[in-house]
Amino acid sequence: MIEYRVGNSLDLDQVIELYKASTLGERRPVEDRERMRAMLRMANLTVTAWDGDLMVGIARSLSDFAYVTYLSDLAVRLSHQKQGIGRELIRITRRESGPETYIVLLSAPKAVEYYPRIGFKPHPSAWILRADDTLL
Ligand SMILES: CC(C)(COP(=O)(O)OP(=O)(O)OC[C@H]1O[C@@H](n2cnc3c(N)ncnc32)[C@H](O)[C@@H]1OP(=O)(O)O)[C@@H](O)C(=O)NCCC(=O)NCCS
Repeated sequence: MIEYRVGNSLDLDQVIELYKASTLGERRPVEDRERMRAMLRMANLTVTAWDGDLMVGIARSLSDFAYVTYLSDLAVRLSHQKQGIGRELIRITRRESGPETYIVLLSAPKAVEYYPRIGFKPHPSAWILRADDTLL
């Protein structure tokens, strides 16, 4: 029985451990605690999944709750993947975002086939400016 919670009052070490246990930690600054702390504190829509006392999934988003929600991190513990937890985390994120809000995200390479499978559409004109890109 998996329980879902909304909110970011979470133990930083447990969150970092979950990122690693899902493999998303390979693509996030998990060795930089202060950056991870800021990521957790400043995200304004975080949903977690719990198997008893064990955090098994997280969806960490930034939302204006009116127009758009950026789903930055979705991670499910390897031992708990493919049980519908990722989909439920997104469903709750969407519910909390509000009925007129759309979700935008960048897929990790391991999840490029996941998002279309659960209903996401590709966007042909998505653009990013990385921290080390020059603004011309
Ligand atoms: C991607 C991830 C969040 C999916 O979570 P999950 O709880 O395992 O996924 P769900 O159980 O909700 O899967 C829903 C469906 O997608 C399928 N699916 C799961 N992972 C998939 C993947 N990587 N590629 C394609 N399909 C996938 C499931 O089999 C399931 O199919 P079904 O409806 O036919 O049963 C999880 O695998 C994960 O944490 N991966 C590592 C971190 C990562 O890449 N995160 C994405 C960052 S953008």
